Amino acid sequence: MILDLPKWFDFHAHFRQGPAMGAYIRAHLDMGCAGGVAMPNTKPPVSRVFGEALEASWSIEHYLHDLNAAGGGAFEALIVPLYLTRATTPEMIVEGVARGMLQACKYYPPYGTTNAEHGVSLEELIGGEVLRELEETGIVLCLHGEQHGLSGDRYFDAVDHAESIFYREKMPRLMDQHPRLRVVCEHVTSEAAVQFVQLAGERVAATVTPQHLLYTVGHLIQGLRYHLYCLPIVKFEADRAALRSAVTASKQSQFFAGTDSAPHTTKATAGGCAAGCFTGGCAPQLYAMAFEECGVSMDSEAGQASFERFLCRNGAAFYGLPLPEQGFRLERQVGRCDLLETPEGPVTPLPVGMERELTWRLAALSEWVCVSSQGNLAHFCFAPRREGAGLRMLARVQTPWNFLEGSFVCGYGGAVAVGVSEWLEHEI
Ligand code: DOR
Ligand code: ZN
Repeated sequence: MILDLPKWFDFHAHFRQGPAMGAYIRAHLDMGCAGGVAMPNTKPPVSRVFGEALEASWSIEHYLHDLNAAGGGAFEALIVPLYLTRATTPEMIVEGVARGMLQACKYYPPYGTTNAEHGVSLEELIGGEVLRELEETGIVLCLHGEQHGLSGDRYFDAVDHAESIFYREKMPRLMDQHPRLRVVCEHVTSEAAVQFVQLAGERVAATVTPQHLLYTVGHLIQGLRYHLYCLPIVKFEADRAALRSAVTASKQSQFFAGTDSAPHTTKATAGGCAAGCFTGGCAPQLYAMAFEECGVSMDSEAGQASFERFLCRNGAAFYGLPLPEQGFRLERQVGRCDLLETPEGPVTPLPVGMERELTWRLAALSEWVCVSSQGNLAHFCFAPRREGAGLRMLARVQTPWNFLEGSFVCGYGGAVAVGVSEWLEHEI
């Protein structure tokens, strides 16, 4: 069973900063990803739109430059939301929109997750000029929807937990006070959040991660599988069932893929566990497995259309991005998943951490062999590998990655064919 899909956008990913960024981006490119939303919870946070990197804050302009230099230039579209802090001004929004650098803002509950200490509470934002400006300009507000500052005993009840409290008690006021605000509820995990999104109508959408479709809290605590620990935490069966029916509902347009792939080279220490599941390289496979677990037949036209809506179409439509022209291919076959080696150490992908076999794999549309490379700053020549046929030198390519002569690169729709500096087109 083969599934040919348009390349997809990951509308919630963490590519981090520093020397490991290139490896994280590459893992996304390798899984047919054409870009999406790169979250701004770096250190320091991406809390200005323009200007150079300062000690206390980075700008979207600066972070995009770093992302592109690390390989993100190969993406078709990359959105970096502005991290909302006490220092965010309406003028930043106006200028960011006018100069085409701002497409989204991100709400972090203060101290609620990794690097969220710069967040401002929703109460402080509601009714203010910053959100008014977002309404005016149609800029998306991406929300990490959890109530912050709860004591341990109120944090995680089966019904009243940080997420359900946020969506039941905080969100109605935001919706009332800002009737035109466009919102993406990030990584929704509960029945309460799903109901909120469905009732809110078309101006509200939600991203859903593979882990929240596949697992419940039982999977996390049975054996203390800390690679499944992320925020918001995986919930109960009723919550997973609500997510599953929302993403697979016929013609649904509000729910789409956003992996929240959040690599941590040190995941667990004696003192605690970093929140984040890493799904670079394996997310479409995991989503396909989840759809099958929801009872969707991936052999049927209706099942394939529903998967494609969730993975490729709904999010692009919400953010106004054109569907990528290139495609990628999934195949129902046992797939491999390995530790990701980075200059900062290995990162464990979720299926490895859960000791779970992938039942789908990425299938290459083409393979390229590196026929010559010149040093490690590298101009590479690639030619498609064709049985029996002579190699055809197609292009000289400049990439941020090192390929050894003779190494093969799978082109899931041409990840390496970006940065082409010269088309050659001759037999060798
Ligand atoms: O699990 C998570 N990891 N949730 C978040 O909100 C942040 C993320 C990270 O950056 O590690
Ligand atoms: Zn995230």
